[in-house]
Amino acid sequence: MAIEKVFMAGAGIMGHGIAQVCAQGGLEVFLCDVNEDLVSKGLARIEKGLARAVDKGKMSAQDKDGILARITGTTDLEKAADAQIVIEAIVENVAVKKEVYAKLDTICGPEVLFASNTSSMSITEMAAATARPDRFIGMHFFNPVPVMKLVEIIRGLLTSEETFAAVRDLAVKLGKTPIDIKDSPGFASTRILMMLVNEAIFSYWEGLGSAEDIDTALKLGANHPMGPLALADLIGLDVVLNVMNRLYTGFCDSKYRPCPLLVNMVAAGLLGRKTGRGFYAYDK
Ligand code: NAI
Repeated sequence: MAIEKVFMAGAGIMGHGIAQVCAQGGLEVFLCDVNEDLVSKGLARIEKGLARAVDKGKMSAQDKDGILARITGTTDLEKAADAQIVIEAIVENVAVKKEVYAKLDTICGPEVLFASNTSSMSITEMAAATARPDRFIGMHFFNPVPVMKLVEIIRGLLTSEETFAAVRDLAVKLGKTPIDIKDSPGFASTRILMMLVNEAIFSYWEGLGSAEDIDTALKLGANHPMGPLALADLIGLDVVLNVMNRLYTGFCDSKYRPCPLLVNMVAAGLLGRKTGRGFYAYDK
C-alpha cells in the first residue's frame, strides 16, 4: 500500500515537526490537536521553520508554499479515515494514548497503519487497545525532527513484517535513517541514553567530580556534543526520572534504579532549564 496521506495526531513539539517532514516528503498531511488554538500554533511553528530555511537560502519560497499547502489543520479525529497511516505524538500517558487509539480504530479502515512516536511506552500494550496489533508499530523520531536523522522503528510483539517494511520505507522517503528495534522498556535509544545520564548523576552524587568535569569527560573523551548532566537539564529532570522509573519497573532490575539525588532534585523542583536550576543555573 502506497502511503500518500498521513494523519498526524498531536501538533506539539514532535507532531508539528513530523507533519513538516512528511509534507516535505510530498505527502498530504492532516495535523490534528485537541483545539483550534493548538492546531494553529503547530501550523505557525511549521511556517516559521520553513520561513527561516527560505531566509537562509536553503529552500525556495515556492517550495515552502507547496509544503504548507499539503498540510491541513484539524481538530476532527474522523479525518483519519482518509489516511493510510496515523502517526501519533500526543501526551506521554498510556491511558490517554490507548483511549485515542481505541477511537481511531473504529474510525479507520482495517488496512490503515498506526505508528506511535512514544519515547518509552510499550508498543505491544498500546497495540492491544486496537483490533490491528499487526498493523501497529513504533516510529520514534527525535527532536528537532527536521534536523535529526534517526527514526527508531519498534516492532511490537505482533507487528507484521509488511507493517515494518512500509514504515521503514516511509522513514527513508522522509530522508531519515531507520533502525530496526524490538519492543522493550525504553527501546534502544532511550534506555541507553538514560542509563548514561543516570550514571553521570550517580558519579556526581558520589563526589567523583564537578558537574563541569563529569560533562567534559564525555564531551572530550567520547565526542558527545553535550555532557550528560547538561543534557539532563535540557530534557528535564522530571522526564529523566519518569523514564528511569519505567525502566526500573519494566525490567524489575536494580541496575535501572534512579539515582537518589535525581529523586531529591525532582522533589525540590530543580528540574533543569525549565525551572532555571538543575545541575547548572540558568537565567529564566
Ligand atoms: P507536546 O506536549 O509538545 O505535544 C503533545 C500534543 O498532543 C499537545 O499539543 C496536546 O494538546 C496534544 N494532544 C493531547 N491529546 C490529544 C488528542 N487526544 N488528540 C490530538 N492531540 C492531542 O509533547 P511532545 O514533546 O511533542 O511529545 C509527544 C510524544 O512524542 C510523546 O509520546 C513523547 O514521548 C514523544 N517524544 C517526544 C520527544 C521530545 O523530545 N519532546 C522526542 C521523541 C518522542
